[in-house]
Amino acid sequence: MPTVYRGTIVHTKSFDEFESFKEGFVAVEDGKIIGIGGDYDNWLSTSEVNADLISEVRLSRFQFLSPGFCDGHIHAPQYAQIGLGMSVPLLDWLNTYTFPTEAKYVDKEFAQKIYRSVVQATLRCGTTLASYFATNNLESTLILAEEVARQGQRALIGKVCSNCNSPDFYVETTDESVGGTEAFVKAIRKLNNPLVLPTITPRFALSCSKELLQKLGNIAKQYDLHVQSHISENLTEIEVVRDIFQTSYANAYDEAGLLTKKTVMAHGVHLQDDEIALLKKRGTAIIHCPASNTNLNSGICDVQRLVKAGLTVGLGTDVSGGNSVSVLTALLRAIEVSKHLDFFKKQNILGTGRAEIPDNDYQQLTYKQTFYLATLGGAKALALDHITGNFSVGKDFDALLVDVSVLEKPHRPLTVDELLEKFIYTGDDRNIKAVYVAGKLVKGTI
Ligand code: GUN
Ligand code: FE
Repeated sequence: MPTVYRGTIVHTKSFDEFESFKEGFVAVEDGKIIGIGGDYDNWLSTSEVNADLISEVRLSRFQFLSPGFCDGHIHAPQYAQIGLGMSVPLLDWLNTYTFPTEAKYVDKEFAQKIYRSVVQATLRCGTTLASYFATNNLESTLILAEEVARQGQRALIGKVCSNCNSPDFYVETTDESVGGTEAFVKAIRKLNNPLVLPTITPRFALSCSKELLQKLGNIAKQYDLHVQSHISENLTEIEVVRDIFQTSYANAYDEAGLLTKKTVMAHGVHLQDDEIALLKKRGTAIIHCPASNTNLNSGICDVQRLVKAGLTVGLGTDVSGGNSVSVLTALLRAIEVSKHLDFFKKQNILGTGRAEIPDNDYQQLTYKQTFYLATLGGAKALALDHITGNFSVGKDFDALLVDVSVLEKPHRPLTVDELLEKFIYTGDDRNIKAVYVAGKLVKGTI
């Protein structure tokens, strides 16, 4: 039975192409979009759909339909420590807080409890697609996959790999890392759920030997898998990587065959021009994690520089370096750091201002561009934009029904642009009335 959603529709087609319909429609059948646009009657008269069978959902004037959010980088186990330890830099934070927390996931009951709640929380906040890091532990990573499948989210999930420069209580041998990864890939493929995919997950170059990176690169190639990791997040970390690998951060991954069209790298705050060029050549995307970059004092990522160089960029919450599971919050923080960067550049305050980008040319990210990062940009970064990310005929219906009048009715009618702007600047999960993945209502009511 086809369903048609009628009312205000917003989505993007590219970084600079925002499209909206004030009195538009999205038609859905068997979880897939079969029509989208501003002229419903015309669509109906030319489509093969039997009008008598259509069920209609009419949106109110303060509601709109948005593509679901994509969280391109989130650590599910770190939900157990969200909001804690926010005053130390990356490497101290990992050793003091994060590794001890992740080591607890040998306890399956603990894993079940936290993983259930993190998937509930992300879905409630409108994350229809997430790229999750789990932990080194294979069994509990499978629990995360089962929980994602049970709750109906679309996700990439990785068993985290680390075999060196890690504490004794949270480290694997190369064989455990490789064997666990292969076992995980096989187990996920057995689930046979098109929404849940395995992703190769070296934690970061620092915690993986050259041999391990190479073996993970081989597995990614052999099974044609996604890859996720971290790159150039923190200045100290970058120095250590250079010392160990005797090359740039991007090269360390590239030498192992880990930079592909299906690779996403989180952060990229301090990438050099030649590294950006290499990522571009390989088709590898960056996931911008503004909350985490601020919280862990990592720096400010110049997203415009990456986009101008031709990289695909998505957004990540990076929980729990990031302190919120909400992509909407990440979106707003991306706008904020971009405004700060703009001010610093124009005032010539930044000691690190890069000579190749004249500071006066910097352009702040607009809320529409940032909305793209949170939806289609993320889907594209994860090489899933043929399936999701916007409302195109043939894609799955991954969507949010947003209502900006939930807490207080606006005092005047709002334009379409204003509806989106108000949601971005004042909204939260309470404004997300319904969440759909592949046409199925997975949170909320209509
Ligand atoms: N680099 C290596 N591991 C991590 C992690 O868990 N979080 C962040 N933000 N950076 C990392
Ligand atoms: Fe991270």
